[in-house]
Amino acid sequence: MAMANRLFLPLATIIATVIFTVLGVSAATYNVKSLGAKPDGRTDSTKAFMAAWLGACGSTKAATVYVPRGRFMVGGLRFTGPCKNGAIRVQIDGTLVAPSNYFVLGNGKFWLLFHGVQGVTIAGGTLDAQGAGLWACKSSGSRNCPDGATSLAIFNSRDVVVYGVSSINSQMFHIAVNGCSNVKVVGANVVAPWNSPNTDGIHVQLSTGVSILNSKISTGDDCVSIGPGATNLWIEGVACGPGHGISIGSLGKDLNEQGVRNVTVKRVTFKGTENGLRIKAWARPSNGFVNGVLFQNAVMTNVENPIVIDQNYCPGSKNCPRQVSGVKISNVRYQDVHGTSATKVAVKFDCSKKNPCRGITMQDVNLSFKNQLPAAAYCVNAGGTTSGVMKPTSCF
Ligand SMILES: *[C@@H]1O[C@H](CO)[C@@H](O)[C@H](O)[C@H]1NC(C)=O
Ligand SMILES: *[C@@H]1O[C@H](CO)[C@@H](O)[C@H](O)[C@H]1NC(C)=O
Repeated sequence: MAMANRLFLPLATIIATVIFTVLGVSAATYNVKSLGAKPDGRTDSTKAFMAAWLGACGSTKAATVYVPRGRFMVGGLRFTGPCKNGAIRVQIDGTLVAPSNYFVLGNGKFWLLFHGVQGVTIAGGTLDAQGAGLWACKSSGSRNCPDGATSLAIFNSRDVVVYGVSSINSQMFHIAVNGCSNVKVVGANVVAPWNSPNTDGIHVQLSTGVSILNSKISTGDDCVSIGPGATNLWIEGVACGPGHGISIGSLGKDLNEQGVRNVTVKRVTFKGTENGLRIKAWARPSNGFVNGVLFQNAVMTNVENPIVIDQNYCPGSKNCPRQVSGVKISNVRYQDVHGTSATKVAVKFDCSKKNPCRGITMQDVNLSFKNQLPAAAYCVNAGGTTSGVMKPTSCF
């Protein structure tokens, strides 16, 4: 049987290749360089990239947009569907560089936007948004800075894979997934300085069935941020730091808001981050909720707030009547979380007095303060149970 398979598989491949070649059903390739893009890092290649996308999207058979090695300067790219085929690969072997004038992208919200597509794989390559100029503008306190663009945005799409993409120095978020189903981000490598403003690594909201796997995120804001309406989200094998950690929220800014349900975060590490595993909600009226979260197997190294639920978020103490959060938080499980806290309070549950956190379970949590000193836990309006090792001592 094994022998037969060994003979059969190569034979099947050859036959398939012959059939595909004869019928001409192999993928059509749209090479940006053949369409006029220049790999010199200076010449605006936006039009060539858009021509490649229009070709691939309009193809009735599987198609590839190919970006060879080299640095290609491109402005805002809009990869809009629906397309005539459901198997498009955007293969990037080179680097995309943003225009050095940050206003070109900065008022447009997105650098690369995939909108309304289905069956798209974005593979490889580096997106260099050159965000430093905009960050400097923002930190100078000038009022003339644009908000900035998300480097790679996947909106209103389904069945999308982002594989092995590097994003460096985004103006705002590096990667954002919004209004999608079945999106996988695998092997992402995200880099920006610890003090770069609003450079969230991967943001997910209003989406179901998103997974973020085996990725490394060093940035100035949240490593992964999870917004309203994220359901069936799976995060596994992610290394964070520096940055602000993995955060569900901020939630509950709006009165009417979709909830966050069924989130799994496992095998994650945090090094020198501001937070580890965080849930954060505005102290404002809202019908939002968080239900069903599993945080499993997390290692903290010198993290300021390793485990934190904060329902008192209200920057500038404005528009938070009575400072009460309407977000209902329930069924949150922490399992096998260990390492070191950079502050004494390693576990903090600061929940809403109107909607206390319910059903928190902690199992095998072992966090110390600066390696050997005992850490502390702090609870307000929070209830739950513990089992196994529980360091610091539970505050339920
Ligand atoms: C929770 O989400 C995972 C994917 O992250 C999915 O496999 C599982 O079926 C979901 N569970 C429920 C009860 O919907
Ligand atoms: C908790 O972690 C410390 C430091 O890694 C370790 O020395 C200690 O044995 C652990 N305690 C338990 C009960 O697992």
